[in-house]
Amino acid sequence: MQTLTFPNNDQMPILGLGTWKSAKGEVTIAVKQAIQLGYRHIDCAAIYMNEKEIGKAIKECIDEGIVKREELWITSKLWNNKHAKEDVIPALQKTLSDLQLDYLDLYLIHWPVAFKPQVFSAMRAEHYLSLEEQPIADTWLGMEKAVDQGLARNIGVCNFSTKKLKDLMEHSRIKPTVNQVEVNPYFQQDKMLEFCNANNIYITAYSPLGSFDRPAGMKAKDEPVLFEDPVLLKLAKNKGLSVAQLILAWIRQRGISVIPKSVNPERQKQNLDSVNIELSEEEMNVVKSINKNRRFVDGSFWEVPGGPYTVANLWDEE
Ligand code: A2P
Repeated sequence: MQTLTFPNNDQMPILGLGTWKSAKGEVTIAVKQAIQLGYRHIDCAAIYMNEKEIGKAIKECIDEGIVKREELWITSKLWNNKHAKEDVIPALQKTLSDLQLDYLDLYLIHWPVAFKPQVFSAMRAEHYLSLEEQPIADTWLGMEKAVDQGLARNIGVCNFSTKKLKDLMEHSRIKPTVNQVEVNPYFQQDKMLEFCNANNIYITAYSPLGSFDRPAGMKAKDEPVLFEDPVLLKLAKNKGLSVAQLILAWIRQRGISVIPKSVNPERQKQNLDSVNIELSEEEMNVVKSINKNRRFVDGSFWEVPGGPYTVANLWDEE
């Protein structure tokens, strides 16, 4: 599979398995079958509450000789209540212990949003710390320490605007290598891609398929369904592909790594097979033409009355 080369020469497989929303009871089998199918990149996060179950799958695959640790690319993410620089390493150690690993290939700051340390799920203004009270630059010192200690081979961020990336790059010893953000045909991220390409940062696309399975409370009532888009349906049919494969190929061909979530072996295989699909320039442009510039995951869940975060200041109005 095509890989993306990092500054330290590490190679990240361009397609990985997403695990957000993969339930504890099904994720061990899902990850194991994915590795058996040939997935070598697994995207995790402490807040997905399933790292222990994923760790079990990874360990079984290694013990059974299906894969070696060094053939896997494992990403995880720092949760919002662990942003104080002295909390980063302990949070990472907990993730490593759950995943039964001694290093991560990539560790990311999950959101540019800080909670008070004792808060796990912030519902009210007093649960939050503003970025003035808990600066990203401070969190990043902890992230850099994780690299120094060999616990994370690469570090990066998620959900950062170009403005926040620029600030971070200016104030960091070790540069962020990845910004994991939403990318799909309805939210294409042209400006972000241009910025990242110019600054040696890779984009990883989350919610590539629109994350239809996320909780109802996180969905708008009038939300469009990517799988029902007539333009995508027509092009996929003409090419003999599923809509999911078409979307994944389109994202990958823009040089963006992509982490579709599936717990179903047929769909996992379909998604993995998308790495062999080539779209013509014309086909790429057909998908480009349906951009709605509309996020599925808009961060509005961080906006509470009197709190420090708003959708506008989260994305810096980009
Ligand atoms: P499932 O896990 O049952 O396969 P995203 O990666 O954007 O968060 O989207 C994940 C959602 O898309 C899940 O509901 C997942 O269901 C579904 N999904 C993943 N791959 C496919 C596919 N190839 N075809 C249809 N649905 C898919």
